[in-house]
Amino acid sequence: MYPSRAEIDLGAIRNNVRLVLDHTGVQVMAVVKANGYGHGAVPVARAALEAGATWCGIATVDEAIELRRAGVDCPALLLGFVPPERVEEAIANHVAMATWDIEHVRAASSAAGRTGETARLHLLVDTGMSRLGVQPQEALQLARRLSDAPGVLLEGVWTHFARADVRDPTPTAAQERSFRDVLQSLDAGGIRPPLVHAANSAASLTRPSAHFDLVRLGIAMYGLHPSPECPLLPGFQPALAWKTLLSQVKWLPPGRGVSYGHTYTTRTRERIGTVPVGYNDGFRRVEGNQVLVGRRRVPVLGRVTMDQIMVQLDAVPEAKVLDEVVLIGAQGEASITAEDVAQRWGTINYEVTCAIGTRVPRLHLNG
Ligand SMILES: Cc1ncc(COP(=O)(O)O)c(C=O)c1O
Repeated sequence: MYPSRAEIDLGAIRNNVRLVLDHTGVQVMAVVKANGYGHGAVPVARAALEAGATWCGIATVDEAIELRRAGVDCPALLLGFVPPERVEEAIANHVAMATWDIEHVRAASSAAGRTGETARLHLLVDTGMSRLGVQPQEALQLARRLSDAPGVLLEGVWTHFARADVRDPTPTAAQERSFRDVLQSLDAGGIRPPLVHAANSAASLTRPSAHFDLVRLGIAMYGLHPSPECPLLPGFQPALAWKTLLSQVKWLPPGRGVSYGHTYTTRTRERIGTVPVGYNDGFRRVEGNQVLVGRRRVPVLGRVTMDQIMVQLDAVPEAKVLDEVVLIGAQGEASITAEDVAQRWGTINYEVTCAIGTRVPRLHLNG
């Protein structure tokens, strides 16, 4: 086994799903795209469903097929683009699709005819994310054409918020208003899709008016804060810890350069540890990284290499080969969160866990 591993506490996933079910009182879609934000899509999906989630959300047909092959047979929604040649596969795997244009509706209708299955579509309205979706003023017309297409069921209508994780509710309120106007126009046209959904984690936590029939829960399910301005409520637990060990420990004399480019030079006689994790594992090649050794934060010295880093062990003289090194998680009282790492890397916690490399084994605990 490769010596760096991500440990995922499925008990934390279940706990977090239950908290959101209690908080919102509506259905929960477990968003497990991108390999469950790096946590492992299948085990996370199973844990979320066990805790009461009723849907899974994925981004690609391959992600949907991974769930189905593993026997995860809950209702599932493809949140992203499905290339025309893969529409039939999505339908055959009983996965609903986001839709926003008539070409896709036609492709779904003819694929439904070929497979003898119903194509379930969720009309995505672009109320301000400007990513995918039909413009609000065109939604009714598309919904009508969709309703008339054979073999196609308008199962849902939905939108996605761009700024639900900021303190100022104004932009999200404007998106919600635009979405409600669309719902009203559909209703007036006699079109009432059974599932209406809009909220991501941030809106699930902060905006009851946007809960509708279902919330699409990603980052909070993993026990990670939607943003510094939108923290989790008490009780959520981070699910992921990223751990490794010391592969070598040595004394170096003063004046020795460390790692490529010798950007660090020892000042005195220094105790240096080598750790088998690098940028190929998703440990970013930037200055200022820290890890936990012997329940203390210690600095990474010199450049991060593809598979290895060096750390300064002067503060932990007792450290020895095979001792645990924590990259994300806790060691005694000390901890490094995904948010700490994100801040250091100038990014968001989402990217930190999604980027943990494919060669890092995921160890699922408390399944
Ligand atoms: C369409 C859609 N819905 C829901 C989510 C979940 O968002 P979050 O992780 O902020 O809860 C995402 C994630 O990016 C998404 O793309």
